[in-house]
Amino acid sequence: MENEHIYILAIESSCDDTSAAVLCNDKKLSNVVATQKIHEEYGGVVPELASRAHQQNIVPVVSQALAKANIDKKQLSAIAFTRGPGLMGSLLVGTSFSKSLALGLNIPLIEVNHMQAHILAHFIKEENGKIPSFPFLAMTISGGHTQIVLVKNYFDMEILGETLDDAVGEAFDKSAKILGLPYPGGPLIDKYAQLGNPKAFPFPKPKVGELNFSFSGLKTSILYFIQKQTKENPNFITENRNDICASIQHTIINILMDKLKKAVKQTGVKQIAIGGGVSANSGIRKALEEGEKKYGWTSYIPKFEYCTDNAAMIGIVGYLKYKEKNFTDQSVTAQPRYVIS
Ligand code: KG4
Ligand code: ZN
Repeated sequence: MENEHIYILAIESSCDDTSAAVLCNDKKLSNVVATQKIHEEYGGVVPELASRAHQQNIVPVVSQALAKANIDKKQLSAIAFTRGPGLMGSLLVGTSFSKSLALGLNIPLIEVNHMQAHILAHFIKEENGKIPSFPFLAMTISGGHTQIVLVKNYFDMEILGETLDDAVGEAFDKSAKILGLPYPGGPLIDKYAQLGNPKAFPFPKPKVGELNFSFSGLKTSILYFIQKQTKENPNFITENRNDICASIQHTIINILMDKLKKAVKQTGVKQIAIGGGVSANSGIRKALEEGEKKYGWTSYIPKFEYCTDNAAMIGIVGYLKYKEKNFTDQSVTAQPRYVIS
């Protein structure tokens, strides 16, 4: 088996990115992502539009992934797809496409949990890439997720904490919207934050128990603060943009780091692997570097391509499950609330 070449075609369609990838064992041959621009004008993902865009994108995206990998579909060993969690209408497109293709090619079908895939993305083999060993703590931070998971083995994971309301990426994006920045505003807050004073405007940190998160209160306090200030000075935002962004980012990163420190204390595990779009944030990267120096942590950040929603991460789970012959049958259905266990 070790010398065997397993070719997995992976499909991801849980939210607003249509993606297909081809892996040969644990190496990526291609990873094509079609990001849906249509949602920008609405300031957030519109589920019905996402589903329709997936239908338009899926065939060209899969063809491109196969062509880039230089693989004919007859060479494929199995099809892996995102079963959930995610938007029902979006998941249905990838699920039904994958089921049909696997049936047509008469090859195994592998269902993948999207959250597990964000974590196992760390095992895609890259030149000079660092791979965590078990156990490690995984923090998945994106526009759709905020979770801290204790990873004991590939398929033995325990959720230690998660958000009770908004995801951390939403906290960035909704704050940016209050400041009049375009969607998704997270990267812009990050950009301006680097030029500002993080202590200029203190925002309250939520009081949420255990290792859970809450971001909706922060958004409200930012909104009230901005409304009050602009009443007194209509140019408040433009005059203080960098300081406001730095203060917002400082608060959000502190919230994440407080919980991470608590998780390390609780588990004794000092290996930290992050994933999700917010992993690109300069503040979180700096905070992790500090954690390495101050607390002896080892941190892992995958290539950005594997942080945001992508099919290569679905493919690595597909490969790991293929080795265990962990296949699913044609009765499988999409699972919008699929919890990792
Ligand atoms: O993983 P992702 O591409 O999509 C999902 O949400 O699943 O993550 C997108 C999120 C958005 O909320 C975006 O604003 C945020 O990641 N993001 C950032 C940065 N880059 C992307 N947030 C803060 N700082 C960044 N540099
Ligand atoms: Zn995701």
